[in-house]
Amino acid sequence: MTKKLVIANWKMNPASGKEAETLFTDVENGLTLLKKTEVIICVPFLYLNILKSANRQTKKIILGAQNVFYEEKGAFTGEISPLMLDNLGIKYVILGHSERRALGETNLDINKKIKSALSFGLIPIVCVGDKERDENHEYFNFVKIQVEECLNGVKKDLLGKIIIAYEPVWALSTTEGRKDATPVDSREMVIFIRKILTDKFGVNTKLPRIIYGGSVNEKNALEFLTNGGVEGVLVGGASLNPEKFLEIISIAEKI
Ligand code: 13P
Repeated sequence: MTKKLVIANWKMNPASGKEAETLFTDVENGLTLLKKTEVIICVPFLYLNILKSANRQTKKIILGAQNVFYEEKGAFTGEISPLMLDNLGIKYVILGHSERRALGETNLDINKKIKSALSFGLIPIVCVGDKERDENHEYFNFVKIQVEECLNGVKKDLLGKIIIAYEPVWALSTTEGRKDATPVDSREMVIFIRKILTDKFGVNTKLPRIIYGGSVNEKNALEFLTNGGVEGVLVGGASLNPEKFLEIISIAEKI
């Protein structure tokens, strides 16, 4: 049985290493032995080393990053390379988050990052998602282009290592005028993404695991995990609250 994924995206939070340690430890201390769930917490680069060298990385929680550059080393001021993450023992990295796309990251940039990350043995958590829903269902095409362009040229045998996070931008907790996405919205898109992948890579290819993100909390996690067609959730806002995040993990563990 594959384990359910509960992934936290702390985004640009919290404000200090001390607070990061407290938040991490609060979650860690609240965890019992997990049999059916894999917990990954993706933190700002600055805190990776702090949380690692404070020896906080137990078998219960795995640390991840929120971005990585595609080059290995050199004159790329301000960037972090996959080699650096690999040398630090970091395995997971969020790529193509809508908040980075809003800052100008393109499908082509994300594609280069995915291929580079995979070549270093990192596991990319690739975010895709429509910005709005329209009556003509153009949003399906929007996601199709994201999936195809982001995964262009990825080796068939590495495809199964990837995690795809379907995150409809209109459902994120921080989107102005947001709406709730339903497990049906999620399931529909998951089926569609699988079809795109099968068409592109062939039927005999191990497909990525697909998870859902967008205002996941302790109240709706069960619904998404049981009826959303996904193998896990990507949690933003609620992951900054240890009680709420622990509740989501315990829901995943009980399914
Ligand atoms: P929220 O859970 O705050 O909507 O954030 C989702 C997200 O962007 C995770 O990557």
